[in-house]
Amino acid sequence: MEEKRLFSKKNAAEPPTALDLNRIPKHIAIIMDGNGRWAQKRHLPRVAGHKQGMQTVKTVTIAASRLGVKVLTLYAFSTENWKRPSSEVNYLMQLPIRFFSTFVPDLVKNNVRVMVMGDISRLPEKTQQAVNDAIADTAHCDGMVLNFALNYGGRDEITRAVKKIADQVKKGELDPSQVDESVINRQLMTAPLGELADPDLLIRTSGEERISNFLLWQLAYSELEFVPEHWPDFDEESLQRAIIEFQGRHRRFGGLKNE
Ligand code: IPE
Ligand code: IPE
Ligand code: MG
Repeated sequence: MEEKRLFSKKNAAEPPTALDLNRIPKHIAIIMDGNGRWAQKRHLPRVAGHKQGMQTVKTVTIAASRLGVKVLTLYAFSTENWKRPSSEVNYLMQLPIRFFSTFVPDLVKNNVRVMVMGDISRLPEKTQQAVNDAIADTAHCDGMVLNFALNYGGRDEITRAVKKIADQVKKGELDPSQVDESVINRQLMTAPLGELADPDLLIRTSGEERISNFLLWQLAYSELEFVPEHWPDFDEESLQRAIIEFQGRHRRFGGLKNE
């Protein structure tokens, strides 16, 4: 039987490093990519990949919550994903309904609170309902925040923030000289996360090495990891491996010291 490895592939030649439970990244963001390719490899329709990807969301949510992650932000649908064929878009719009109808009890059991960022007013009525119900049903949970980016785009987020700030200036509520990073932070969709708004770690599955309009402002100093697995193949062990890799990085934030 092949021995399971729980250390970073990149450092595979070095002795295995164990996961340090005292240094778990507080905010992990994931670009869940590769559902379509996962399905195509199996001669299945692309939507079969999205269906399987939903199972991965469940697995990874529980795993992250158990590890003590404070915020897990998942990129589920971008402002550019409307460009896809309507059959695929329709399927993706049904997924939150399916996901929450089966998973809310597990979320509550694990004390996970659901949050959403993005313009959900463009989603079908039933999808909005499912999302809002899940937010309400988990509002009392004070463990990990499961933050879905749904119809989210980083440029859209910044554009909306700029508009709001311009409006405040126009109304005389704010002087341009007062516009600083905290004023901007407060207008972003991650504002409810407070000091946890910026991801410590960004993971993108499926080998693509780009940001695709995700959290453009908040990723300024995040550690980036691009892993080869397609999202449906990503699992608890992949998450642990990513965290071990993160724990081996030296974050400097422009300074010289580690963290
Ligand atoms: C990610 O998988 C899911 C969404 C973008 C909604 P993709 O659907 O992008 O899968 P690939 O990248 O085409 O394989
Ligand atoms: C990013 O993946 C969006 C989500 C995962 C929701 P895409 O598959 O849409 O990104 P590109 O088109 O490959 O850049
Ligand atoms: Mg993709």
